[in-house]
Amino acid sequence: MSEKTKQMKELIRNSHNLVVFSGAGLSAESGIPTYRGAGGLWSKYDPSKYADIQYFNQDPSYYWRFFKEERYPVIKAARPNKAHEAMVRLEQQGTLFQVITQNIDGLHQEAGQRKVCELHGNTRRIICLECNRSYHMDEVYRGLEKILPPLCSCGGLLKPDVVLFGEPLPQEALNTAWQATRECDTFLVVGSSLVVNPAAQIPLLAKQNGSLLLIINIDTTPLDEMADLVIHCPASEVLMEI
Ligand code: APR
Repeated sequence: MSEKTKQMKELIRNSHNLVVFSGAGLSAESGIPTYRGAGGLWSKYDPSKYADIQYFNQDPSYYWRFFKEERYPVIKAARPNKAHEAMVRLEQQGTLFQVITQNIDGLHQEAGQRKVCELHGNTRRIICLECNRSYHMDEVYRGLEKILPPLCSCGGLLKPDVVLFGEPLPQEALNTAWQATRECDTFLVVGSSLVVNPAAQIPLLAKQNGSLLLIINIDTTPLDEMADLVIHCPASEVLMEI
């Protein structure tokens, strides 16, 4: 075990209220590509077209083809990895109080994590923009062969319940995240480039509230300088040891 991992293990062991903030890097080892960094999704697909609410409203079939061909098959095949499982154990031991995730893959819940706050929604849930009825992604995916973009039984347009660029974050999730961030004494970032706001303000808020700020991320992040400890290694490697 590296010296830094030993230090991080000690800091987490001494924590009375740990919060984990996760990003796409956590699910990379489950086969879901990250957005940025090597081979990132946004190097192949232009986010201003594939993940922007204006563009979705203009031409929803663009997003739905991306969902059908790129996102659904990858999310459907993905299983929680060792890093997700290690975080469930930290919760069961009473160390980890809240997970705040930017991920939309639902893998924290699949792994058995009970307290998960989804800042950017969850792509397994599909909602009607007219009547707000909710469908499971499997049911909607099957219908895409016949009609794309998919419509609700009320005739309204369907959209995955995820936050696209240009949309506000769900207020309830933000409130939960701010509350947990105010109460924690240790704030661990796992697998996020910390470049997308307002989510990236949350680790900053934790540090300003006097919490220890720990980061596990392969690439450097804008908060590395102010963090108390940074480990540039794969999440599962470090979390399994912790
Ligand atoms: N272990 C740890 N870190 C990893 C791993 C791994 N196995 N694999 C990749 N990483 C790191 C990369 O170095 C990168 O800095 O994970 C980070 C992923 O960064 P992004 O792809 O930018 O993902 P994220 O920070 O979650 O993006 C935030 O951007 O497009 C929006 O809504 C989308 O929620 C997403 C938001």
